[in-house]
Amino acid sequence: MFALIRSRVMARSRFAGAIPGSKVCTPGASALLRHYHKPSRTASFKTLTKDDLEHFKGILPAETILATPAVGGSSDPIELEGFNADWLNKYRGNSQLVLRPKTTQEVSDILKYCNAQGIAVVPQGGNTGLVGGSVPVHDEVILSLRNMSRVRNYDELSGVLVCDAGCVLEELGNYVGERDHIMPLDLGAKGSCHIGGNVATNAGGIRFLRYGSLHGSVLGLEVVLPDGTILDNLSTLRKDNTGYDLKQLFIGSEGSLGVITGVSVITPQRSSAVNVTVLGVTSYENVQRAFALARKRCGEILSAYEFWDATCMGAVLHHQSLKNPLSAEFPFYVLIETSGSNKDHDDEKMGGLLEELLEEGIVEDGALAQDDSQIARMWTMREGIPESLAKTGATYKYDVSIPIPVLYDIVGDIAKRLESAQLYKPGESGFPVKLVCGYGHIGDGNLHLNIVAEKFEDRVTNIFEPYVYEWVKSHRGSISAEHGVGLMKRDHLEYSKSPEMLAYMKRMKEVFDPKGILNPYKVV
Ligand code: FAD
Ligand code: MLT
Ligand code: ZN
Repeated sequence: MFALIRSRVMARSRFAGAIPGSKVCTPGASALLRHYHKPSRTASFKTLTKDDLEHFKGILPAETILATPAVGGSSDPIELEGFNADWLNKYRGNSQLVLRPKTTQEVSDILKYCNAQGIAVVPQGGNTGLVGGSVPVHDEVILSLRNMSRVRNYDELSGVLVCDAGCVLEELGNYVGERDHIMPLDLGAKGSCHIGGNVATNAGGIRFLRYGSLHGSVLGLEVVLPDGTILDNLSTLRKDNTGYDLKQLFIGSEGSLGVITGVSVITPQRSSAVNVTVLGVTSYENVQRAFALARKRCGEILSAYEFWDATCMGAVLHHQSLKNPLSAEFPFYVLIETSGSNKDHDDEKMGGLLEELLEEGIVEDGALAQDDSQIARMWTMREGIPESLAKTGATYKYDVSIPIPVLYDIVGDIAKRLESAQLYKPGESGFPVKLVCGYGHIGDGNLHLNIVAEKFEDRVTNIFEPYVYEWVKSHRGSISAEHGVGLMKRDHLEYSKSPEMLAYMKRMKEVFDPKGILNPYKVV
């Protein structure tokens, strides 16, 4: 059976699709109705004046400022469009000023002034966030880190990288790749997202299974607090037990406590032997059985275990011009990656696993990549899902952690609810909801439930909100596994956090940002 897999993948024509570039494009969705609860503007926040703009001109070179005539500048509002709208085209602010500092001192000077004046600020990285955290809600000043993109230091012996927060993840991957290392995280947005944004959201992604959370691989941070104080905690030490580990507070704080300007992160050695296989599976139960066997047979070299359903596959094959590498369509697809240092050993292990999976009837069909371009195409099949869905329509995203055995149940449950409400019929057009599907990092117990609709509207949203959150709570799961809270889940945190924990989160916010100017209306 395994020979069958091998002979099939060797027929290159099965991989004839192009590999799209990894730069994430914001889907063109101008017709989508933006529909969400917008908190009222905090009246005490200052409305920008020409004097404020003049002050910022004293801090930053003119070419790093985008200011519309509304605040005394000359930029066309259209130039600010990409900073005001989020990647999903779901959340939109109305900022008239974008500041793009190049140094930590400039960030400090900006925040010091904003804090003194009561001017609200939203820190922005690559603007690929999926919970409405990276764009203003009203007229907050946008503090974009994209001009801070310098590698400060790289130590090849320890693998510790120190860089500016605005470095693009993929560029860092290329930089350390030339030095035989990899970044400890990887995600579909790598061509646009910044390392500072990754840290601010505590991004998970496809290497989490192997390298764990950024809470482990980030060794130090440089952070500017709302009052302009620079916290230089840019340590390169693996071990440092000198009291409270303050940097951990900023990892996952989504720009609500401070602006991350520098990151120190440990990068793993690059594996010389990488194998990737895509498998066709007939039931979710077998997706789990395959995971258990992959861990048993390949535990020490297993580096990713991802899954997606047939609906996702349909969207990705349609939008990414890829071909299904398997002989038929399946209800579920699994991608397994192994990374190690001994090719013969790893090939044998992967071969043995595939053989056993087929013999046991756990998988029905599979394709094993034969070279780097086939590996890239298989990964595009998985990583291209978010973009493909967003191109299909208004995409509602629920990023949940639930115990693996019941993880996929919620997808069918939501589909049924929508069908009962006559808002959706699988495979049929003409309904307000086009697709209901699931994919994700199953090895981490993390499902991405996506509902793609004609537009964002209450009669659709009300079917699954707060139902999804209640469902997750009843399984002691998390309503945000990796995307964060942002504006989207700010009012739903009680489903995953106790009142006591929420109270301490609010107190923490007050300690760092007593005037509440940093990323207001979000997180807490
Ligand atoms: P932004 O979107 O600009 O900002 C995100 C949040 O961080 C905002 O609250 C913002 O205020 C804050 N922030 C940004 N930079 C700073 C800074 N320097 N200091 C303080 N606060 C800051 N997430 C995952 O976890 N796993 C995935 O696999 C994954 N895949 C994705 C795939 C696609 C196609 C897309 C579009 C998104 C994906 N995401 C994923 C979501 C997203 O969280 C990540 O893309 C990324 O971590 C956000 O980085 P960014 O630089 O774009 O930050
Ligand atoms: C992913 O795993 O692809 C990302 O988290 C993005 C998404 O959920 O759409
Ligand atoms: Zn994800």
